[in-house]
Amino acid sequence: MIKRALSGIKPTGDIHIGNYFGAMKQFVDFQNKSDFENYYFIADLHAITTVQNKEILERNIINIVKAYLAIGLNPKKVKIFKQSDIPEVTELTWVFNCLVTIPYLMRAHAFKDAEAKNKEVNVGLFDYPVLMAADILLNDSHVVPVGKDQKQHIEIAREIARKFNNTYGEIFIEPQEYIIENTESVPGTDGQKMSKSYNNVISLFASYDEIKKAVMSIPTDSASLAEPKNPDTNGIYKIHSLFLTEEEKEIVRAKYQNGGMGYKEAKDMCIESIEKFIAPIREKFNSISDKEVKKILEKGKKEVRKEVEKKMEIIRKAIGTAL
Ligand code: TRP
Repeated sequence: MIKRALSGIKPTGDIHIGNYFGAMKQFVDFQNKSDFENYYFIADLHAITTVQNKEILERNIINIVKAYLAIGLNPKKVKIFKQSDIPEVTELTWVFNCLVTIPYLMRAHAFKDAEAKNKEVNVGLFDYPVLMAADILLNDSHVVPVGKDQKQHIEIAREIARKFNNTYGEIFIEPQEYIIENTESVPGTDGQKMSKSYNNVISLFASYDEIKKAVMSIPTDSASLAEPKNPDTNGIYKIHSLFLTEEEKEIVRAKYQNGGMGYKEAKDMCIESIEKFIAPIREKFNSISDKEVKKILEKGKKEVRKEVEKKMEIIRKAIGTAL
């Protein structure tokens, strides 16, 4: 049986290597599995819970599509679409809103974190997991490749599917998250988790100079050039290793452990590895026109709407609004 993989990215800013290794890389892996159909979208309705500037949002949406193409997603093989082009998703969100309780959503991590930081939480942000459940369930997704931070959201989607099915009959598939275990969190240039909010990111489309600047800013201790160094606790190596094959890792680890390598050399090697990886992605990203992006989204919209209109009609019949 062909299964369906679906995921989305919020257009809230630049894509960085943490996004790539934490989640997006898996999209390409799923594209290459013959027993999967793939749906990747731009979660612009999720983004407006925080991004409330037209020019910035438009640019961010376009850049996510370019990022999808630059990392190797092929619009002939996978469906690429914009969330807001599928109005059924907001209709379904409303149906789910009427099944989900307020105390249940108050237990979501994202809401609790925002509350703890005394942020003003808009209703959209509070309802974020329900909209996400609608994305997943409306498209009959079996598997949702995401970063670890999204695990709870998939659990919520599963529980909403169960609750709906118990109330109205078996309409939805209970989806599973797919998370790469050993890339749980990609470290940033300061050693904390790579995140825009910590200002420690390396853009997936960084120029050579930007890569250099980012790597040079990784803090180092005062160990001398001759001293052996432990790669496992080293901030340079932790980032560098993301870009190395198993064999290359052994060689670089030995250089740390044997001593005789200073941090300048370690950083130079790291810069070269990142540049080698990013250069083709950056070139592809820069070669795609906005016009091409719009064409791809238009095609995705047509294809996906055709399917979800049918699904939505089944849902309307099940709840009793379609006579
Ligand atoms: N919340 C996800 C993120 O921040 C984006 C997202 C929205 C998503 N809807 C989704 C991911 C549905 C997977 C499935 O990354």
